[in-house]
Amino acid sequence: MKTLLTRSPRKAANLILKNELVAFPTETVYGLGASVFVEEAIQKVFIAKGRPADNPLIAHIADIDEIALLARSVTQAAEQFIEAFFPGPLTIVLRKSERVPDIATAGLETIGVRMPRLPAAQSFLKACGVPLVAPSANLSGRPSPTTWQAVRADLDGLISCILQGDQTEIGLESSVVDCTGCVPILLRAGAITIEQLRAVIPVTRFGEHDATTIAARSPGLKHRHYSPQARVITVAQPSEAAPALDDAAYIGIDAPSSAAAPKSFKRLLICQSVEEYARSLFHFFRQCDEANVKVIYCQTVEEIGLGTALMDRIKRAAQD
Ligand code: TXA
Ligand code: MG
Repeated sequence: MKTLLTRSPRKAANLILKNELVAFPTETVYGLGASVFVEEAIQKVFIAKGRPADNPLIAHIADIDEIALLARSVTQAAEQFIEAFFPGPLTIVLRKSERVPDIATAGLETIGVRMPRLPAAQSFLKACGVPLVAPSANLSGRPSPTTWQAVRADLDGLISCILQGDQTEIGLESSVVDCTGCVPILLRAGAITIEQLRAVIPVTRFGEHDATTIAARSPGLKHRHYSPQARVITVAQPSEAAPALDDAAYIGIDAPSSAAAPKSFKRLLICQSVEEYARSLFHFFRQCDEANVKVIYCQTVEEIGLGTALMDRIKRAAQD
């Protein structure tokens, strides 16, 4: 299959209406879109990504009114979060309507709904005229793509089209919050922080559940994720990173001193802020793979604000 590269939301949307797959930019990472109501198209998403069939997909909407097509009911907690954070990098899990095919939600009774705020994503979704399921547009297990080139590196020849846009602004995926009950539960840390969620609903839970409960509610979290080919090692200080050992790379906020590291790193990225670190992480992982780096040292950051989501991705990448 030839993968069309285009900057036209209209051209890309026409392919969605022919039940084809289109990758598109959002403010978090690039997504791989297919019509939420077409089983055959959704099946192609799982095949192209090599995604396990038990990992549910998120539905993306252009307009708040479309939630009624996807969800059976909207809880009060969901309403408050929608009011505060839509459009934006937050996915809200609700009880799903019968119209949504089971394959989209991997058989779950619930569906994640998100309204991206990136103008290019909004024009594309509007041109499609239907909500789209869209997982991150990477091969399953690889770091999420933050550029159209990263999408092409993983999915060229496997999907019909890439809607080209800029490097994504946030660089980490949306926060996923379960709003099916009275008390919201943050299942996946992301760009909307637990502090921001609690400013709206103070009882919002996070991190109090054991791994089994979280895995049952959000099956995707148990799968291997975000991994570069290189081994990822976390370090509190740059002095703990040892470039002499191997073809090594370093990413963090503090720069390694040249005295402590006489042999240079094959790839080195010093970020000015946690935001820049988050924006750069997955891109850096991919660059390291291209350069055949064997070990990537990632400096840890404090787990507050966006640092919670950033550390979540780093720890998952370091797990294997
Ligand atoms: O920022 C994002 O969320 C990106 C962009 C493209 O929107 N999408 C994304 O999708 O990261 P994906 O499929 O790579 O990650 C979705 C996560 C998975 O961990 C999945 O298990 C979880 O959300 N999820 C999806 N539907 C769910 C549901 N009904 N209940 C619980 N968790 C769900
Ligand atoms: Mg993903």
